[in-house]
Amino acid sequence: MDLSARVRALKPSSTLAVTARAKALKAAGVDVISFGAGEPDFDTPAHIKAAAIQALEQGKTKYEPCAGTPEARQAVARYMTTRHGLPSGPENVLISCGGKHALYLAFMAVIDPGDELLLPAPYWVSYPEQARLAGATVREIPAGVENDFKITPEQLEQAITPQSRVLVINSPSNPTGTMYSPAELKALADVVARHPSLIVFADDIYERLVYGEDPFVSFATLNPAVQTVTFNCLSKSYAMTGWRIGFTVAEPGLIKAMDGLQGQMTSNITSFCYPAVAAALDGPQDEVEKMRQAFAQRGAHIHRRLSSLAGIRCPRPTGAFYVFPDISEAVFGKLDPKGRLLDSAAAFAESLLEHAQVAVVPGEDFGGPDQIRLSFATSLEQIDAGLDRLEGYLASLKQAVSR
Ligand SMILES: Cc1ncc(COP(=O)(O)O)c(C=O)c1O
Repeated sequence: MDLSARVRALKPSSTLAVTARAKALKAAGVDVISFGAGEPDFDTPAHIKAAAIQALEQGKTKYEPCAGTPEARQAVARYMTTRHGLPSGPENVLISCGGKHALYLAFMAVIDPGDELLLPAPYWVSYPEQARLAGATVREIPAGVENDFKITPEQLEQAITPQSRVLVINSPSNPTGTMYSPAELKALADVVARHPSLIVFADDIYERLVYGEDPFVSFATLNPAVQTVTFNCLSKSYAMTGWRIGFTVAEPGLIKAMDGLQGQMTSNITSFCYPAVAAALDGPQDEVEKMRQAFAQRGAHIHRRLSSLAGIRCPRPTGAFYVFPDISEAVFGKLDPKGRLLDSAAAFAESLLEHAQVAVVPGEDFGGPDQIRLSFATSLEQIDAGLDRLEGYLASLKQAVSR
């Protein structure tokens, strides 16, 4: 069948591809150690599960309002008001099928063909693809390893054109694990404030998983002159990736527009999941804290070990559960055990999986061609075993002889 130009231009998600490949190898009996997963290795806290189980047993199995039940929208509004200091009501909230669909709806709601997405690179793989589906062109703003993968206000100012419509800020970041300080974010917000047609999409989904010196601040609170759309979800903070619960917080006009789009696409999310929203956001946070501490410990450990490897440069992770080491110096131009030239992160990731049975995600699709992403949402033992293999593999590489 002939497929649309839109679909033909679409890049499949490389993170999902690596995770699927590692799972398939494991299922075939291969002893793979995977750093691919973008999800916590913890279970959803019991009181959140109980809320959904009770709703199911009470027969909450019918259509609900597309934007979410009033209680769930209210819970999100309360959370934004009290935790983040962003006064919000239910009219500011739309609940969608994960943070991913929330972002897609927002791109569809504000982008016209020819508009530009300003995208600090490295970035999460779905931003450029979603924006292009909405008709945008993508202007990357490169942020290097030397600046912990963060852009400067000067870079932002220079990148803005009359077509610039959306700037994505994702702090803490997937894939880099680094985050902006409140002062750095404020400086970016002050630049945006001078360009009133520019909208900031603040992807805050890792806001609870923060363990550096800097606290998290909600971008939407930094400068009242900036139009900000905030995205969040229960997926990462509450170990609920499979539940598919995300939300958008924005001015009511945009929420209405996204509600209209959602009404023609998915309608409401699974109805008996709504009570889980208040259970998660209003309930005890001790399990979240346990996860946060585990990620802090693992992040420090994996960073220490990676930094000890010759030629690997790795900013210290301070949020989320990823590291994004630069491997160009240690790897590019070398030959793997089969004599193949390693000239890209993709070639490296493939060879590492084949020869050392370690799965990592190559950085190309994140806009970081010199890096690989390792998720440390896995035990310390697995991290050590995987890094032992990585170390052995790196030692086996030979310098290519230039002729
Ligand atoms: C930065 C970022 N934004 C959004 C999402 C989407 O989250 P969800 O699983 O809730 O759709 C992810 C998931 O990996 C992410 O890393």
